[in-house]
Amino acid sequence: MTADHLTIVNHPLVQHKLTLMRDQATPTAVFRQLLREISHLLAYEVTRNLPMTTKQVETPLETMEAPTLAGRKLALVSILRAGNGLLDGMLDLIPSARVGFVGLYRDEETLQPVQYYYKVPERLDERVVIAVDPMLATGNSSAAAVSLLKESGATDIRFLCLLAAPEGVQHMKEAHPDVPIVTAALDKRLNEKGYIVPGLGDAGDRMYGTK
Ligand code: URA
Repeated sequence: MTADHLTIVNHPLVQHKLTLMRDQATPTAVFRQLLREISHLLAYEVTRNLPMTTKQVETPLETMEAPTLAGRKLALVSILRAGNGLLDGMLDLIPSARVGFVGLYRDEETLQPVQYYYKVPERLDERVVIAVDPMLATGNSSAAAVSLLKESGATDIRFLCLLAAPEGVQHMKEAHPDVPIVTAALDKRLNEKGYIVPGLGDAGDRMYGTK
C-alpha cells in the first residue's frame, strides 16, 4: 500500500518474518536475525527512487553507459538504541553509506524528548538521509530526531521503521509532511504506556535480551 506519506511493504517475506518477530516465544538471537533480514527487504523499498546517473563501463564485450547511484554517499541515521537493529541490515545492503546516531530520552516531567547524543555525517544537505527506528509509536522521538537532522541541513529525509502506530504516523505527518515513511505494518493503536498494539513489545529489549 502506498500513500504519499506512508508506504506499507506488503511483501510476503516481510509479513512472514514480521509475524515471527511478533511472537513472544521467538528467542533474542532469532529476533535479531529476523530484524536483519527484514531490514534488507525494507532497505530495498526505501531506496527505490534514489537519484541515478550513468558511468562508462568496459564489459568483456563492449563499452556501455551503465546506471549507478548519483551524488554523495547516502546517510543512515540510527535513533538509539533500537535503530541499530535496522541499521545493521541496511549496512549489509549499502556498505558505503555514512552513518549517524541520535540519542534521545524522555524527560519524565515534561514528557518531551531530550537529546543525549548526536553525531551525524558532514554535508547532510547533499545526501539522501534515511532515519531508522523500528517502532514509530507516539512519534515524539522520531519527529524530534528529524528536526535535528533538518537543523544539520538535511533536506531529503526518509523515515524507515518496522511497525507504526496511527498516532505516530499522524504526528510525523503534521511535524514533517515532507518526510516519507516506509514501514512493514500499520498496527491498531498505542496502549496507555505508549506501546504499539498488537506490536511486538519493546524492540530494544527483544533485540538485546534486556528483559
Ligand atoms: N517502542 C518499542 O520498543 N515498542 C513499542 O511498542 C513502542 C515503542
